[in-house]
Amino acid sequence: MQMSAPHVESILRVRDLVKHFPVAGSRQVVHAVNGVSLEVYRGETVALVGESGSGKTTVGRCVAGLLRATSGIVIFRDVEVNAPSKLDYRYMRGKIQLVFQEPGESLDPKMRIEDSIAEPLRAARWPGERRAARVLEVTELVGLQVKVLRQYPWELSAGQQQKVAIARAIATNPELVVLDEPTSALDPTARAEIIELLRTIQEKLGTAYLFISHDLSTVRYISHRVAVMYLGMIVEHGSTTEIFRRPTHPYTIGLLSSVMLPDPRQTLRRGLQLKGEIPSPISLPQGCYLASRCPLADGRCRLELPPAVDVGRGHFVHCFKHDETRQFQFVAETGGALPASASQSVQPSP
Ligand SMILES: Nc1ncnc2c1ncn2[C@@H]1O[C@H](COP(=O)(O)OP(=O)(O)OP(=O)(O)O)[C@@H](O)[C@H]1O
Ligand SMILES: [Mg+2]
Repeated sequence: MQMSAPHVESILRVRDLVKHFPVAGSRQVVHAVNGVSLEVYRGETVALVGESGSGKTTVGRCVAGLLRATSGIVIFRDVEVNAPSKLDYRYMRGKIQLVFQEPGESLDPKMRIEDSIAEPLRAARWPGERRAARVLEVTELVGLQVKVLRQYPWELSAGQQQKVAIARAIATNPELVVLDEPTSALDPTARAEIIELLRTIQEKLGTAYLFISHDLSTVRYISHRVAVMYLGMIVEHGSTTEIFRRPTHPYTIGLLSSVMLPDPRQTLRRGLQLKGEIPSPISLPQGCYLASRCPLADGRCRLELPPAVDVGRGHFVHCFKHDETRQFQFVAETGGALPASASQSVQPSP
């Protein structure tokens, strides 16, 4: 099932985000994020997908204000996340929250569940009596029994712990929650339950999500829009329908070729195998970062960094060869390419 984007009001703007990490004992740096721009609209889910090491977590942490960007800007509403004034800082508290991959990262093992959930409310200066009521409210909302509030994280299952992490994240009624692979540490049953829970919360509270994930099936199910990252850059982005029906960047096609997707209308005509390994983020390649692995790459790809190309319907791709990748895309049973109208455009107008 595809979801339609509910709103068009922009809440988060990321422009040319760059994040370098120093390499210990050397003057070199890890180029973790290399110029990411993205936008999140109120109440929608934007997925960030890509292989391990592509910079997804680093983007998420810069957005949540846990890491300071090397350059570029992250603007939430009208506030610069990386350099808020004192007044803005107060306004910002609780507006963006983060749920980590491991519930253990979100929860302090020495704290009772009720204190973990109440902590962000305390930080956002909610008065005591409202805090207690809110803790109960969100505990119920995530489907946990009140008795867990007196317990410690180790007394709960991984799925229950992740529900606590979500309760904690939504307690302050944030407008945006960054979810960093929130289900990858869970078994399939708990995973499905958490995904449903996230959807229910979004329906009820209108929370927007930046959903970081490896799992393309889940991404397809939960997201309105998808951004594909490779070596610290977004190489393709568009509505979920577009990305899965007309994947255009060879990297996206490579990713989709390596997984089975259940909907036959959204399979590829043929797969594309990427060669070799992801290059080191310490010394970035010249030209398109995928060139060394891409079967379509030619001389120009190895020299120039491809700019964003608008391929229609709010779908953008950084590839000189975007015309040639049509051969991999889905072809309808009638034999023709899907007409543009067959794709429900869910791209909110900027
Ligand atoms: N604190 C750090 N110090 C040095 N290098 C780091 C640090 N954090 C991340 N990196 C490096 O930055 C790059 C991007 O890492 P990041 O964790 O953002 O990727 P990711 O897409 O989230 O990967 P995964 O799917 O494995 O979680 C990687 O090369 C990683 O080793
Ligand atoms: Mg990560």
